[in-house]
Amino acid sequence: MSNASPARPKKFTVPRFLAAKAKKQKITMLTAYDYLSAKILDEAGLDCLLVGDTLGMVVQGKSTTLPVTVDEMIYHGEIVSRAVQRALIIVDMPFMSFHVSPAQALENAGRILKETGADAVKLEGGVNQAKTIEAIASADIPVMAHLGLKPQSVRALGGMGKIQRDEDQLIADALAAERAGAFGILLEMITAPIAQKITDTVTVPTIGIGSGPGCDGQVLVTPDMLGMNADFHPRFLKKYASFASEMTTAVQAYANDVREGAFPDESHSHS
Ligand code: KIV
Repeated sequence: MSNASPARPKKFTVPRFLAAKAKKQKITMLTAYDYLSAKILDEAGLDCLLVGDTLGMVVQGKSTTLPVTVDEMIYHGEIVSRAVQRALIIVDMPFMSFHVSPAQALENAGRILKETGADAVKLEGGVNQAKTIEAIASADIPVMAHLGLKPQSVRALGGMGKIQRDEDQLIADALAAERAGAFGILLEMITAPIAQKITDTVTVPTIGIGSGPGCDGQVLVTPDMLGMNADFHPRFLKKYASFASEMTTAVQAYANDVREGAFPDESHSHS
């Protein structure tokens, strides 16, 4: 019998992320916020985990991502990093952590990388954030751009459902992000033909959510795809499980057992 510990899986690095596009290998990404879920997602073989600022909504129960802070992103980013061996970990830069100046953005991106152990950051913007993306990328901090539906712009756009659909602007944004040094571009809620065009135009991988099958990879918010929110049924979402109802059934079974004295029984007790 060998005492050797199991080999560590080969890390999905930024160069591997970039190479996937040339090899036409679809990139898999889900969001992660906590240790046990991140460990399961990593061991299931996902390429990338996004510590998204959606944590403001799905973890904290807030109505937008706006209140999320850099310290909260670092708190969750560090937890996820500790759980992960293989996946590329990307941490969102929250609202107002990169808007003041490229120097402020660089400082916060640096903090996120240093204090979480993550591999990269993501920020919302294209042409309007090109200087910021350039400042972060030139410090060798991998940075992903996020275009289309930009949840951090909810107040300016007048609602969550307002989506940037201007093809020329989207292509200009994608090209500006790539030129500035972004290693990838997340496309949220863009029509499938425009997402395909952007994917064919840029050399870095695109990751889509609600943007059709033409992107180089796909991302979903994990609690959404697991069916944790029974009342959330947007068209783009495919639910792969019904965790809300499974959890309700399990919790009710436990409560019934306790009320009826069926749990704990002898097999769950120390003699
Ligand atoms: O913050 C987030 O979870 C995102 C999603 C669009 C994937 O950016």
